[in-house]
Amino acid sequence: MKKLILDVDTGVDDAQAIMLALAAPDVEILGITCCHGNTPLENVLKNTLRVLKVCNRLDIPVYKGCSKPLLARKQHAGDYHGKDGLGDVPDPDAPGLELLQKRNAVKALIKMVKANPGEVTLVATAPLTNLAVAVQLEPSLPEKLKALYIMGGNMESRGNTTACGEFNFVADSEAAYIVLDRYTCPTYIATWEFTCRNSLPWSFCGPWLDMKTEKAAFMKKITHLSMTKARSAEYQKEITAGKGFNSCDTYALAAAIDDTLITESEKVAVTVELEGTYTQGMMVLDYMEQLKKKHKAVIMKKVDLEKFKKMLMNSLK
Ligand code: RIB
Ligand code: CA
Repeated sequence: MKKLILDVDTGVDDAQAIMLALAAPDVEILGITCCHGNTPLENVLKNTLRVLKVCNRLDIPVYKGCSKPLLARKQHAGDYHGKDGLGDVPDPDAPGLELLQKRNAVKALIKMVKANPGEVTLVATAPLTNLAVAVQLEPSLPEKLKALYIMGGNMESRGNTTACGEFNFVADSEAAYIVLDRYTCPTYIATWEFTCRNSLPWSFCGPWLDMKTEKAAFMKKITHLSMTKARSAEYQKEITAGKGFNSCDTYALAAAIDDTLITESEKVAVTVELEGTYTQGMMVLDYMEQLKKKHKAVIMKKVDLEKFKKMLMNSLK
């Protein structure tokens, strides 16, 4: 069994990633740690519990993490995923926050990794605040991880939140800097441009969401808003946007579950710009090895789309 911990800011694509992990036969989710991001933390917690409810997996522990970025800079929390982060389709029977674990997410993350040394794959699909605080509290954490998969950053300086910034790395640039600097375990990064260039054809979405299952009905409901936006002129500006459906977080999760999914990648040292007027939060790829960093991250370039589609179809069965 692959042991996963998911660090999320449940939004719609985080929800898709969680459901894909829950449908994978050889995966055990040890816990889900929640972080501010797409929507305020309270909504992230509620949304995460809603996803587990529709999958009948409320047995999976959910932990409350950081509600603000390290420096609490202005957040760019657009409403792509809706005000509540899950498509603004509230569920009157949504599970309550009393189901949350008492332990703080950062402490829980450290405890779970220590209890499973060398076996846990951490999948981070939110701003990296929880992970940055965790490594400050427990400097040996990274060496106890089997691997770290991140959805975040960029490889061609393109942005989706600022001109040069991807949301997760802009929302907490200092945390992203700390994580890319201190997590020296095998690290795999699904950047914004990678997810755009490997987006799913819109022709996939119809049959996918029209499956006659409760999970598909839930997914159809929560994705309506973001899919409408993604197809609107306003989002056409994005790289290859409008040419397909971009479930950003799900690429990182799918790669963590099946490492044959990524058919092309490159290894390069990376860091994050903290000061740039236009480039704060931008991921810097050090091809010239100026940073003299021993640790190199694996930057995903291409995905086996047919395999990815199958995993997504399975996630709603
Ligand atoms: O830039 C895309 C990322 O920002 C995804 O993780 C999405 O959920 C948002 O958090
Ligand atoms: Ca996310």
